[in-house]
This record gives sequence, C-alpha cells and structure tokens, in this order.
Amino acid sequence: MSFKIQIEGSDVAFDCASSENLLDAAMRQGIEMPYSCRKGVCGNCKGRVVQGELVVGTQGGSQEAGIRQPDEHLFCRAQPASDLCIAPKTWHRVDPAARKTLQAKVFKKIQVAPDVTLLHLRFPAGVRVKFKAGQYLQVLLPDGQRRSYSMANAPHESDAVQLHIRNLPQGHFSAALLKNLQVGEMLTLELPHGDFWLRQDSERPMLMVAGGTGFAPIKSIVDHIVRQKLQRAVHLYWGARTQEGIYAADVLTRWAQQLPGLVVHTVFSDVTDANTWSGRVGLVHDAVRADYADLSGWDVYACGGMPMVTALRDVCAQLGLPDANFYSDAFVG
Ligand code: FES
Repeated sequence: MSFKIQIEGSDVAFDCASSENLLDAAMRQGIEMPYSCRKGVCGNCKGRVVQGELVVGTQGGSQEAGIRQPDEHLFCRAQPASDLCIAPKTWHRVDPAARKTLQAKVFKKIQVAPDVTLLHLRFPAGVRVKFKAGQYLQVLLPDGQRRSYSMANAPHESDAVQLHIRNLPQGHFSAALLKNLQVGEMLTLELPHGDFWLRQDSERPMLMVAGGTGFAPIKSIVDHIVRQKLQRAVHLYWGARTQEGIYAADVLTRWAQQLPGLVVHTVFSDVTDANTWSGRVGLVHDAVRADYADLSGWDVYACGGMPMVTALRDVCAQLGLPDANFYSDAFVG
C-alpha cells in the first residue's frame, strides 16, 4: 500500500509504500534530505511528522540519535501507515540521473600509515562525474555488498577519485579485497552519494573536525575552498590515536601556504606520556570544548567515528550551535 507524503510549507509530495522508509522513498524520487548512516544511529535524518501515522515499531529513535520530542522521528526508519505531512530538517531537489555507475581503474595504491591506504582511481577516458565537495561513493563488490568511502579530491578533479581507506582487520573490503588489489585492476563505483557537502551560500566561519580517515571529505572541502578562493575562516581539528594517524601532513603544510587564515590543531588520544609530547593530547571534541566559548555563529563540519560525531554534536549544542548548522558524516560499522 502506498501513501502520499507532503513536505510541510511546500507543494512538494512524494509516494512511499508502507514497507519503505521515508528517506529511501524521498531519495528515489529526487528529494534529498539529511542523512548519514541510514541505520537509525546517527540522528542526521531526524525530522518531524506533523500529521499522520507511522507503522508501529518504526517511530521514534534513541536519545543518542537526538530524538527528544514525540513528533520527532528518524526518516531512515519511519514507514508510513497513512498519508503524512512531514518537516525534514532541510531538503532539496536533486536529479536522480546525476548518479552514475562506472568502472574505474586502480591508478595508485599507497600505504600512508600502518592502517591507512590511499587509493587513486581513474575513470574511463572522457568520463567525468559531478560531485560536491564532501560527498561519498560506493564500491560495488562482486558479492553484491557495498562499501562507502568519501572522495578526498576536490570536485574540479572530476576524472578520478582519491579514497582514504582505514584497514580494518575484519573489513570485508579493507582487509580481504584491498590487500590483493593491484594497480591496473578495475572497481565498480556508484557516485555521488551523501548530504555532507560544503554549503557555499553561507558566510559563517567554519569549524571542521575530522577523526582518522574522516579527514578525506574534509580534504575535499578545503581543497575546494582553496580552488574557489572562498573567503571563509577555517579552523580544522584532526584527531588521531598517535602522530602516525596524521597521514597527510604534506596537505596541511600546503594549506598553510594557500589559506593564510587557516588554523590547524592535531589532537592525539593515545599519547600516554604528555611530558614527552608537545602536541595536544586527548579527545578532539574536548579540544573544541576547551577552545570555544560560543559557536552560535559558526558552521560545523564533522566526519569520523560515531562516538566522536555524537560527542561533538553535544559539545556544539552546549556552545550554542543551531542543529541546522551541524553537518556530519559518521562511520557506522
Ligand atoms: S539515523 Fe537515519 S541516517 Fe543516521
């Protein structure tokens, strides 16, 4: 059974079956809403159901996912039991045909840290793919599974992609397949995906926070800012366990010359002897809490593990940041 889903304050509506969630149905019909994990964990897809009923068991969500009010729901979980009127946090129309599936050739594979591999993939000659700085792609694996990785290159480099892959010991792609992947081999990609991208219509200063390989989409965004000569203040925090986790120090050095206003902090969580260490020690969201008294006038972009993103969202809220100005992409296992 299918229902009509109206977006509050607009004449836009889409169809959604009672067996489908609101987010998937909207995206299938070219309406993009905020999301990240699509597993009911990160809270990015939270919105209000103004009118109508949801299928029992698909309502609500956890406190951790930011659900506080009875009319708030996670749209990646919510399924309609009647026609609905909904109020997503933001929405916009996209062209579903803009997403492409293509073969890309492994051009370079570089181990840049004990647990991080940089993969450079080239599209076939003459093929270019439009994406926004910060978005991700999916690698389509032979067994039908998919793995998501952010593009680390800026959108003007549209004939190739650079991926930063954390080598998880049990990772289906990052351990089993990546290890044997050779230069010259082909991978099937689908792109672009994702709501984590640079909002260029804002002039607010930007606080960018990366955890580990969450640096990849941040790199795409900052490279895009450099390329576009955007006049935005950028403060960057990059959290890693040890200094080896700052696997793109050359990029930070380049940005220091290209973006005079850039402020960079590296923060290390696993340095036990602070006396022999001159950098910052601790968790990256604590560093943000220590450094700012008021974030109400900022835009915050965060990418990393779910615990980091969740903790940072709370810190930012405590420091006055409106939820609509917190953009995040969280890794969910
Ligand atoms: S909770 Fe719905 S996208 Fe993460």
